[in-house]
Amino acid sequence: MRSNFCGELNKTNLNEEVILCGWVNRRRDHGGVIFLDLRDKKGLAQIVINPETADTFKLAETIRNEFVIKVTGKVLARDSEMINKKIPTGEIEVLADKIEILNASKPIPFQLDSMETSEEVRLKYRYLDLRRDEMQQRLRLRSKVTHFMRDFMDKNDFLDIETPFLTKATPEGARDYLVPSRTHEGSFFALPQSPQLFKQLLMMSGFERCYQIVKCFRDEDLRADRQPEFTQLDVETSFMNEEEITSLMEEMVRGLFKEVGSIDLPKKFPTITYDDAISLYGVDRPDLRIPLKLVDVNEIMKDVEFKVFSGPANSEKGRVAALKVPGGATISRKQIDDYTKFVSIYGAKGLAYIKINDDGPSSPIIKFLGDDVTQQVIDLTEAKKGDIIFFGADKSKIVNEALGSLREKLAKDLNLFDKEWAPIWVIDFPMFDVSDDGSLNAIHHPFTAPSVDTKTLLENPEKSLSRAYDLVINGSEVGGGSIRIHKSEMQKTVLRLLGIEDEEAREKFGFLLDALDYGCPPHGGIAFGLDRLVMTLSKTDSIRDVIAFPKTQTAACLLTDAPSSVSKSQLKELNIKVSLPAKS
Ligand code: AMO
Ligand code: AMP
Repeated sequence: MRSNFCGELNKTNLNEEVILCGWVNRRRDHGGVIFLDLRDKKGLAQIVINPETADTFKLAETIRNEFVIKVTGKVLARDSEMINKKIPTGEIEVLADKIEILNASKPIPFQLDSMETSEEVRLKYRYLDLRRDEMQQRLRLRSKVTHFMRDFMDKNDFLDIETPFLTKATPEGARDYLVPSRTHEGSFFALPQSPQLFKQLLMMSGFERCYQIVKCFRDEDLRADRQPEFTQLDVETSFMNEEEITSLMEEMVRGLFKEVGSIDLPKKFPTITYDDAISLYGVDRPDLRIPLKLVDVNEIMKDVEFKVFSGPANSEKGRVAALKVPGGATISRKQIDDYTKFVSIYGAKGLAYIKINDDGPSSPIIKFLGDDVTQQVIDLTEAKKGDIIFFGADKSKIVNEALGSLREKLAKDLNLFDKEWAPIWVIDFPMFDVSDDGSLNAIHHPFTAPSVDTKTLLENPEKSLSRAYDLVINGSEVGGGSIRIHKSEMQKTVLRLLGIEDEEAREKFGFLLDALDYGCPPHGGIAFGLDRLVMTLSKTDSIRDVIAFPKTQTAACLLTDAPSSVSKSQLKELNIKVSLPAKS
């Protein structure tokens, strides 16, 4: 239908007859001349309609924003004073000879260029929201990312093999989305939380290198970086150890950032152990663009009069930590109150601080600590004039979460970032997380290999480490993987430690346990959160910004109104009774 794209016209096209198709971004009447900004996927071009072309002019008067039109005209140079340097086609315009309205548009419910539109409205009319340049750019970037990944995997001899969506539960720590079976009364499929077990089975089938770009489904509490259905680049390999897998994946990530974002990531990504990450940054996904560290002050707080500090300092599960913020002495009382409220979300009961003013340290708690301890804190944190030191004192978990999150918030509020990109591998995760009732939960998933033998694992499961690795970029966990268990005895041992006895294990993962007994190669892999990677690359804070049709925080689709009730006959066919009234 068209001869050229609007956004690609320039002075090389002068005097050419062109046919353009697209949407009317804006119509302007300028005393006898009508201007249309015509938009297509490549950009904007200015169309001029003169009253001399009477029929076309008359038609142009009826055109409104977002009409879809076809324009035939001639490319002309703009007068020098009319040149618009802001757009690539700003030196030319198209003098319309003929216009055809391909389709009209009702006035759209929000201005595409308005910053004020609520996300609710944008999601309801997502097809319009996606017309915005910003959204077009993000989805283009996403497509480049998947293209690069496929190309890289293909060049490195990985096969793209699909695995089922209608399957059995895969434990990744969330609730399952269930699908009732019509042909097997009372039975349900679970949508996969990841293709974990199938990709392992493909290693047992001898493929050696497989990948998929695949949807995963998890019914979990949603956050800005979590969606109930999201996409992973899922990778599995045989006969490769953690060093070989992470190096290859690092090469992919480095190449990807260079190719799609012209970003140079370091030649070798640094690594940090899980323990160090928690103790220095309070979280297992440290943002190393922020040059602030938590400093342990347990030892010096053990004998202080201030019970808020000495209590946790003397408790096995407690922690007292300090966070020095250079230049933070200017933070106001009101801001400190706001930060105190902020840390209370994580269970912190307060946020003590010491400011280092020109005339020395000042704080309501110095009188409880004494000058000596105050000086020791200043020495330990290397605080200087003009700095502030914040404190957290409680159970370690609360202190880590509170100060870890405060560290990130302060960095945003005070712009404390000292680099633009900071990838890091987190390694040496514990195998298990211990619940308050003493039961064990897998930190990665139950198929991750421990870095110790069965005997040591059984003797001290809480202290055993796993062969897992996470890739964190700018504080976002963009990928996670591990070397897997490849022997059925070890697999059964780990499942037992997780409280899954042999009979239940057989019922849930019998197929895997059997497969492990038929010549299973040592294997391992990783999965990258594609949405999170694209989110990080596009420097946006919400995963919804990089998904064409995302769900809300309550896992609903405002566009289609899913999930919705179904007809009685459908329920009957599935033998399902709903205690809420169903639509007839
Ligand atoms: P994991 O559960 O760590 O590992 O997931 C891998 C990566 O997927 C992304 N991710 C998510 N992204 C958006 N919304 C979610 N709800 C969500 N959950 C996870 C994260 C994460 O790093 N089977 C293992 C991988 C393996 O061992 O190979 C797994 O799924 O970026
Ligand atoms: P209070 O004696 O409760 O008035 O507390 C004195 C100071 O200690 C205030 O600045 C509180 O915000 C702070 N504070 C109280 N509890 C804690 C805690 N668990 N961790 C860190 N600071 C605290």
